[in-house]
Amino acid sequence: MGKDKLKRFAEIETFRNVIQPSMDEVLNGFHLKGKWHKDYFRNDNPIVLELGCGKGEYTVGMANMFPGKNFIGIDIKGSRMWKGAKTSIIEGINNTAFLRSKVDFIEKLFGEDEVSEIWLTFSDPQPKKPRKRLTSPLFIARYLKLLKPKGTINLKCDSDLLFEYTLEQIAENNYEKQEESWDVYNEFVNRADQATKDLMNIRTFYERKWLEEGKTIKYCRFTIS
Ligand SMILES: C[S@@+](CC[C@H](N)C(=O)[O-])C[C@H]1O[C@@H](n2cnc3c(N)ncnc32)[C@H](O)[C@@H]1O
Repeated sequence: MGKDKLKRFAEIETFRNVIQPSMDEVLNGFHLKGKWHKDYFRNDNPIVLELGCGKGEYTVGMANMFPGKNFIGIDIKGSRMWKGAKTSIIEGINNTAFLRSKVDFIEKLFGEDEVSEIWLTFSDPQPKKPRKRLTSPLFIARYLKLLKPKGTINLKCDSDLLFEYTLEQIAENNYEKQEESWDVYNEFVNRADQATKDLMNIRTFYERKWLEEGKTIKYCRFTIS
């Protein structure tokens, strides 16, 4: 393992905004499940999750834009979330948390109705394992356990496969679709309001990479209940 990575691992151990539960704790009773408002954020503001947050650009960007909401980035890779956690600390952003866990255990990490919104940012399209896609029926069933009624899911991605699959899931399950764009920067932003434009203009690490390769970015938003 590289020196930088080791340094980051040591440093995030000291970050107050990073929670790294053991597998045993996740499986047998995570101390913040159902208690994020009271014991972590100490307010009743809506909680928004970014799943597979990587460096946490959306978590930090949205926390800056919406001080009246709380944002939690979840990823299995601590060395990536170090960036978002560090930025939050340096910039004094107090409405973020970073949770190091597999998203597969999400229902063990949040209580019923604890979450208002979910963001999926450039998630792995899992070409050979549709069940593992973050918009598969398996994951939607998990989200239903923690999302408030009519909770919102946002997907921003480069993958045609994941985008098409998600639109199929929306149609098959009669989820309420609020937005669909196959080309965020040449189509969606032209008809969006300023707040939505600002939201779309947050660029993640992977998004920058795909834009450099000339890929088109897609976005959809839908509610499930
Ligand atoms: C393609 S990257 C996207 C990262 C970031 N959202 C971005 O756009 O730059 C996918 C991220 O999902 C994380 N990931 C993959 N499978 C995961 C899982 N089962 N649980 C938690 N995180 C996972 C990876 O560590 C990686 O950071």
